[in-house]
Amino acid sequence: MPIISISKLSKTYTSGFTALRDIDLAVERGEIFALLGPNGAGKSTLINIVCGIVTASSGTVLVDGHDIGADYRAARRVIGLVPQELTTDAFETVLNTVNFSRGLFGLKPDAGHIERILRALSLWDKRDSRLMTLSGGMKRRVLIAKALSHEPRVLFLDEPTAGVDVELRQDMWRLVRDLRQQGVTVILTTHYIEEAEEMADRIGVIRRGEIILVEEKAALMRKLGRKQLILHLQQPLAAVPPDLADYELALAGEGRELVYTYDTRAERTGITGLLTGLSAAGIRFNDLHTEQSSLEDIFVGLVREERVQA
Ligand SMILES: Nc1ncnc2c1ncn2[C@@H]1O[C@H](COP(=O)(O)OP(=O)(O)O)[C@@H](O)[C@H]1O
Ligand SMILES: [Mg+2]
Repeated sequence: MPIISISKLSKTYTSGFTALRDIDLAVERGEIFALLGPNGAGKSTLINIVCGIVTASSGTVLVDGHDIGADYRAARRVIGLVPQELTTDAFETVLNTVNFSRGLFGLKPDAGHIERILRALSLWDKRDSRLMTLSGGMKRRVLIAKALSHEPRVLFLDEPTAGVDVELRQDMWRLVRDLRQQGVTVILTTHYIEEAEEMADRIGVIRRGEIILVEEKAALMRKLGRKQLILHLQQPLAAVPPDLADYELALAGEGRELVYTYDTRAERTGITGLLTGLSAAGIRFNDLHTEQSSLEDIFVGLVREERVQA
């Protein structure tokens, strides 16, 4: 059973704006799942619904088998959330805040556990500092410590590295890897393709409230570099000449098009050799063009939306 099961989830805000449409998604135990999408795509809305902060308009969310609506407390107990926005009670000390968070879930105090978290986040020396005296980066560390205080099975990080310093970013990645080792599922949102590429086992792409793609990172990255060269032949071919078998060409358009798929990230694309081979085989063409994989289009589109909004 997946640790998170989302089905037919939609959200229309009271303003009338539909932020999520018919989302189906399963997140497996122990994976690092990145939800990638431009600003305004609906990432925070989705996370906030799964964490029970925003109510869905329709659909269901199960967290470790518990319905987030009907069985909120049991579902919420499993979840740690580091929200996108910084919100902290200014006058409390770091240690009190984190201890208090654990208490909210009805757990007994565990000084050892809290100390380990604070040390891992370089907060131990600051444990008696009041939150209002901390820098933005330190406050974010406190939010992470709070989210981990009750030993959640799933950790949500909403735009964890947007606007944080390099040191915190590195600490965070180390922490995420450690958590994964302990079997904790991590779900993070980002609008940086590089960040998803760096951290995730699986990537879901969300755009305008719809999940348009979910894929293993490795497979996604392989597909991303792929491009096709399409040659329009002067004379149709019945079959690909055996001499050109190495290029794994495909025939299309009733034998009038030869399609070559290559990797733009490879050291050699093989195009020069292919053209020489075609010439040697006496195959002539009167036009050619290239096509990107639809995936590449998606990503180029994402990046463009990002630029428009930046
Ligand atoms: N409380 C709200 N009321 C109305 N619209 C909202 C509210 N919160 C978010 N939205 C809108 O929903 C869309 C998705 O927002 P959000 O989930 O925050 O996106 P993301 O986290 O991907 O940037 C945006 O267009 C945003 O303006
Ligand atoms: Mg957001």
